[in-house]
Parts: sequence; structure tokens; C-alpha cells
Amino acid sequence: MKTQFQRAAMAALLLGVSAAAVHAEMMATTQPPEPPKFDAQGEPIYVNRADIYEYKALPAYSEPAWVTEFVTAGKLPPVAERLPKEPLVFKTANMPDGNGVYGDVMRHVIGGRPEGWNFWAGKSYGWGGIDIGLVECLTRTGPLFTVNAADLQPMPNLAKSWEWSEDGMSLTVKLIEGAKWSDGDAFDTEDIDFYWNDVVMDPEVTPLMGASQETYGAGTTLEIIDAYTFKMNFTTAFPESVLYAMAYGNFCPGPSHMLKPKHPKHGGTSYEDFANSFPSDYMNFPTMGAWTVVEHRPDDIVIMRRNPYYWKVDEAGQQLPYLDEMHFRLSTWGDRDVQTIAGTGDFSNLEQPENFVESLKKAAEDTAPARLAFGPRTIGYALFPNLSGNGWGEPDARGQAVRELNRNHDFRKAISYALDRVRLGESLVKGPFTTPYAGGVMQGTSFYDAASTTFFPFDVASAKEALAAAGLEDSDGNGFVNFAGGEDVNVTLLANIDYATDKNLAEGVIAMMADAGLKVTLNGLSGKDFDNARDGGKYDWFINRNGVEWITMVQNTAMLAPVGPSTDANHRANAAGELDLLPYEEEMVSTVNAFIGERDPAKRTELAKTYQKLHTENLDTIGLVAFPAALMVNKRFANIPAGAPVFMYNWAEDNIMRERVFVPADKQLGAEEHANMLPGAPGDAGPVSAK
Ligand code: GLA
Repeated sequence: MKTQFQRAAMAALLLGVSAAAVHAEMMATTQPPEPPKFDAQGEPIYVNRADIYEYKALPAYSEPAWVTEFVTAGKLPPVAERLPKEPLVFKTANMPDGNGVYGDVMRHVIGGRPEGWNFWAGKSYGWGGIDIGLVECLTRTGPLFTVNAADLQPMPNLAKSWEWSEDGMSLTVKLIEGAKWSDGDAFDTEDIDFYWNDVVMDPEVTPLMGASQETYGAGTTLEIIDAYTFKMNFTTAFPESVLYAMAYGNFCPGPSHMLKPKHPKHGGTSYEDFANSFPSDYMNFPTMGAWTVVEHRPDDIVIMRRNPYYWKVDEAGQQLPYLDEMHFRLSTWGDRDVQTIAGTGDFSNLEQPENFVESLKKAAEDTAPARLAFGPRTIGYALFPNLSGNGWGEPDARGQAVRELNRNHDFRKAISYALDRVRLGESLVKGPFTTPYAGGVMQGTSFYDAASTTFFPFDVASAKEALAAAGLEDSDGNGFVNFAGGEDVNVTLLANIDYATDKNLAEGVIAMMADAGLKVTLNGLSGKDFDNARDGGKYDWFINRNGVEWITMVQNTAMLAPVGPSTDANHRANAAGELDLLPYEEEMVSTVNAFIGERDPAKRTELAKTYQKLHTENLDTIGLVAFPAALMVNKRFANIPAGAPVFMYNWAEDNIMRERVFVPADKQLGAEEHANMLPGAPGDAGPVSAK
């Protein structure tokens, strides 16, 4: 034990040291280092959007023979009547292996758990491709990785076409006509009306990925024209990003015939009851996706069967999907890699570097059941300091004091200087995979500009310097800086422990902060608890994998800055709706709003540079490391497009267009749990057979 005297002497000594050090210079900023060379495998074949699919009536349609038995038994209308007037037709010439055959199952393994089916009130389906198979959106962006740069625009999907008014102040959108939900109810503008007015515009309802009016541009309004037409009116001309905001994560309407009666404005009991109205044991919840959930055995499996009303076909008139069943084994994300390598699972986004070496080794064997292909370095991790000083998430006194530090530029600099990103990357995997990441727009992506990127490199002395400049001293000599005249500063770091990578990075960050004299404690949470803490502002710092906005900028653009009360991950409004933006954040907001409203490519490029400069100079988030991911798919599957990335405009589960993936007859497993069965009526116990 130290004596009082020793402590005081040490404090004086340390104070002396740091007082002198204040005069020293912090290390100059640089550009982030060039990433090590890494050859991604597989180049996409570039085409125009119209080469992939179109909308048209075909002379005849067909379905699996066992589905026709439902028609014969009078349990289902004939296929031509279940399809829209002009279905979405996937073109054979664009299919790597041509038109497919029916049958078989894709066995996914996931780390999430379904919470309930009211996605529109914020319930998560457990990720890993469940929601992407159930929920469809007005436009689609996943497949854009294979689209020519000159034709880069969102693809139509439930929105068949759109037209700008001459002055660009409004957009008229035409929905596909005659498409139906999986229970046969019509999909039309009633669903759009409910989504807009009772989800997006209702402040009491937050959909899973947070869409709000700002997502479509502040002040945007929507009017219904007829059963298949609606119009959006804007406050700026030609805000083309709205078409991206109609894709996955945002404009993906729910079945209003199910949801509306539960909404408090339309007779529902309360918002809480609305959110909980379709719990995860509710089966056959109507979907527009290729499959519908027919069974959920908690902590075991989710099973989906083909949607008999799916509105997409191939050029031969075969109703899609080809795959009759989808499995989602409820396990861990790491187990997804292990099972896919072993052949007991069919699909994995190999995104945790800890598993790279072993997976590469196994995949190189001739007998390996899965194909493995690395894509570009689009997985990026960053540290997000909570920048709300306004009471968001109701911090206690300590939490509030940390937020005030977070709002101090020198404090954020200290974090970056303290990070040895090379060592952080190597602690995950050795080799050319990982690279230091400065934060903001990711290196190697189209809007990235090195000259606009400021990097505060690893230098412990500078980190200490920056802490001192933020007014922090180690006043009790225990190696950690203190609040003025008080206790050690103690920052909690929230991380999602469902991923080994998140946990390892968090532990690395904590050790590095300790070296610089800042005490950080891990708050490791799982799944939805992590999401709730993050999205509810109950954290000092969190680390997380970046969203697509840092890759493409055009997707989820509103998330790049606090342009609305809840668009930004680490700065949200308090209960009164107030944001307390720092001056650079105000500039980021106006830059992002200008980007959302700009259609001139040259001007957008300039705005992207301004954004990146503001973001990285001010350390709005603090980048950690970036690395690639590899897509692993069992070799029996056909029509997997070349160069499909794990993560770009969307996750691989969308990018590979699972509705047109198939298994040749001689390779089918015969592993369907509900062969020859279709989803039953909403709320009924499970799937049904024709007899
Ligand atoms: C999780 C997984 C990703 C991907 C997405 C799909 O986040 O970690 O690899 O499967 O779900 O939503």
C-alpha cells in the first residue's frame, strides 16, 4: 500500500510531467496507410439493370407439381391468378446456370433470434437472411454490385417504375399491379399508406432500421393517387437518393391488413401491444418475400416454406423461388462458418477474421463441400463515442461527464492516438487481411478520397498529450486520468459479444486505452440487448461493424450525420426532440442534406470529400480496422453470381438473389422438413398439405 505522502509526491511528479508535456507537440496527422495488397477472388460480370429482370406477361406459368395439387383440391387459385398481371421476370441470359428446377433447402445457420414479426414496430427477425427472405422493398440494391457504373441506379422491385415531375419536386411511383401477400391479400397503396402514415410519420413507432421522414428528405410528403400509384413531394429538386431510401432497410411495407387493426390509431390497444402483436411463435405471418415462416422452435430452428403467391418468375414461366424450403439453425455466428466448412450448413458470410485461416485451409481441399471467395475490404469496425450531451438515454452524472469529454475534440484525438490499429488487426488474424481504418468513408470504395481523410496515427505520447489538452490529469498517480479533483475517468465500452471479433476488438481497445492512461470497462451484451442499449443511447462508447452507408454513401445516406432526431448512430435527440449539435456536426448535416438533394455527379463527389474531411478531422467516429469477408456457399447450389460480395449495397443473402438460386435434381439433399407443404393461414399452427 502506498502512503499518503508517496501518493501526493507521485501526483505532484505526474502533474509536473504532464504540465511540461502540454508544451510538447502532438504527432502530425497523416493519411491512412495504403492497405496491404490483397487479391479478392472473383470479378462480377457487369451488366445493365434491365439485363437482370423486367416486368412482363408470359404466355403460360407453371409451379411445382405438388403445388398444383393444392389448386386441384380447391385450396389455392391457379398459378396465373396468383401472379400479378405482369410478374417480375428474371432473364435466363443473366443466370449463371440458366433456368432452374424446383426443390431442396438452403440450410442457414445464424447467431440471432427472432423477437417477433412486427418489423415495422422494431422487432428483429434475428438477421442472417431471415428478414431478407420475408420482406421485400420498393426498390432493390443488393444486386447492384454487378451493374455497370453508367447504369448505377436502384433496381425496381415492388415499385415497377417511377417518374420525376419536370421541376423535380415530386416523384410518381407505380407499384407492380396485382401482386399478392402470401395469404392472397392484395398488395397495393393501402400498404403504402399504412407504412407512411402509421409507421414512418408516427413518432411513437420506430421501424427496425429506423426509417423516419428525414430518410426521404426533411419535409417530404406522400400522397396516394390510386390503388397502384403514389406521389412523393419534396422540398428540394430531384433528390435521387430517395430511390435508394426505398430499398432494403427502409421502404419495405408490411401487410396493412394484419398490422392496421393492431395500431392504436385504428383500434389497437396500445403501442406496446402493437409492437408485440405478432410474437415469434405466430406462424404464417403474411409476406411479400419468396418464403413464409411456418415453424419456429426456439433456440433450435426457423423453417420457411415457399410463398405460393410470390410475384417473380423465370423466362420459362416457372414461378419462383426454386428452393422450396429455407432453414435457419439458431446457433452462433461463428458456428455458421464451422458448419458451412463442414457441409452441415450451406451458406456463410465469413466475416470474423479469427476463422479466416482455418476456413481457407479447409476450403482448398478438393473434397471441401463449400466454395469460398473473398471480396473487397468492406467490413469496417469503428468506435462510436456518444456525442449527445442532451440527456439522450438518461445518463447518470458519470455518464454525462463522459459525454462532455466525448464532445471534446482533444479527447477524441486521444482515443485515436492511443490505438495501435496494426496490432489490433493482427490480434484477429495475421497476414494481408486487415488494414487500419481512419473512420468515415471506407478506403477502396468509390467515394473515398485519401486527400480528404485525416488520420491520427498511433502514438502513446500524443495520446497522453491529447488527454492533458482535454484537461485530464492522473491526479492520484494510479496510472489513469481523473475527473478534475475526483475519481478516475471510467468509460464503458459497449460491444456485441455474439461476435468473437467484436469482443476481441473491444478487449484490444481497452488494453490500448489503459496504456495511454484512460480506464475503459467492457459492457458486453448479446443480440437485441446490445441493439437496445446502442439505439437507446445507453452507452459511453460502443464499437460496431459499419453499415452500408460508409461503403456506398448513397444507401442509408441519412445515417451519415444527425440530419434527423434519430438518423445518426452516436448522436440522437433527447425525449424533447432536441439535438445539441457541435459546430462541425452542423456542417456535416448540411453537407449530407446537400448530398441527398444533389444529382450532379461532380458535385456529389465534392460533397463526399467535404463530408469525409469533416468526419475524419473531427473524429466523428474513430475507425479501428477494415478487412474483407468471404462468401461461402455449398457447391451444390447453382446460379450464384460471380463476385457476389458479402457486404456492399446489402448483405450477400440479397446480393446472390436467392429466389433464383437452385440445386440441380441429382444434387438435391432431400432434407426438407415439410416436403409438399405450403404456409397455412396466418396464425394457424404451421404448414398445410394439399390433402
Ligand atoms: C448478420 C450477419 C451478417 C448477415 C446479416 C444479414 O448481421 O452477421 O453476416 O448475415 O446478418 O442481415
